[in-house]
Amino acid sequence: MTQEPSVEEARFDALIAADSRVEPRDWMPDAYRRTLIRQISQHAHSEIIGMQPEGNWITRAPSLKRKAILMAKVQDEAGHGLYLYSAAQTLGITRDEMTDQLIAGTAKYSSIFNYPTPTWADMGAIGWLVDGAAICNQVPLCRASYGPYGRAMVRICKEESFHQRQGFEILLTLMQGTPAQREMAQDAVNRWYWPSLMMFGPPDDQSPNSAQSTAWKIKRFSNDELRQRFIGMLVPQAAALRIELPDPNLRWNEDAQRYDTSEIDWTEFFEVLAGRGPMNAERLRARREAHEDGAWVRDAAAEYARKQSLRAVA
Ligand SMILES: [Fe+2]
Ligand SMILES: [Fe+2]
Repeated sequence: MTQEPSVEEARFDALIAADSRVEPRDWMPDAYRRTLIRQISQHAHSEIIGMQPEGNWITRAPSLKRKAILMAKVQDEAGHGLYLYSAAQTLGITRDEMTDQLIAGTAKYSSIFNYPTPTWADMGAIGWLVDGAAICNQVPLCRASYGPYGRAMVRICKEESFHQRQGFEILLTLMQGTPAQREMAQDAVNRWYWPSLMMFGPPDDQSPNSAQSTAWKIKRFSNDELRQRFIGMLVPQAAALRIELPDPNLRWNEDAQRYDTSEIDWTEFFEVLAGRGPMNAERLRARREAHEDGAWVRDAAAEYARKQSLRAVA
């Protein structure tokens, strides 16, 4: 005999069915809460760790204008991290807990940020491919059933489109430059293309949590659907750039109405995910160091808040 849903459960189910938003004050199943905490905090960590590969180039940007743009972009990523940490906090986890999980190495973040950025063209390839993939992933999240997450995504997506365009423009400039500059742009795209396809996660038949997230209307499209949508966006843009996407088997399949591609090398993905990527240890070391170096700022802010509250009482 199946148990009757409680009044609260029935209300939650009705909210989801009606495509309404679940808010922090609403009752929600524990598993829904846990899934969101995991997803939103991983997403926040990705934004924060994602500042590093590009932050690396701020001091070496080729002009004042490029430096200003890159700095604005990296600051946006810090902002994304903060909105998302705040959204996760509404579910009952503290910022300190999330930070501890990140610097202890027990929390995950997007594997894409564990690759190095050896040339200026990497700034172009990251903006075009990594921020481009982020947009494809995140636009549907603007309608995620959990209110604070969906609302954070609306603003984030607007900024991501700027990031993607600035990456495209860096590559466009390089592609109109000298042979060495064109080669540098092509090399960066060759290195970032496959990892950016992996950002959508494993193929649908190997993605165990997807069905539940779809039922809860956190996820709206499958990993493979989003990956296809991304490739469809890249193909005409690559043609405009006159840059090659490094997949000899990439072609439109008219019958299947989808792109055929080469097999993705998932062993590499799982290696990087398991912490054995080229930059995993370095990213965590830098994050831990920044956290320790920032201790005095947190202490000062806490002391200021304490004095303000005393004044409010007086
Ligand atoms: Fe971002
Ligand atoms: Fe971005």
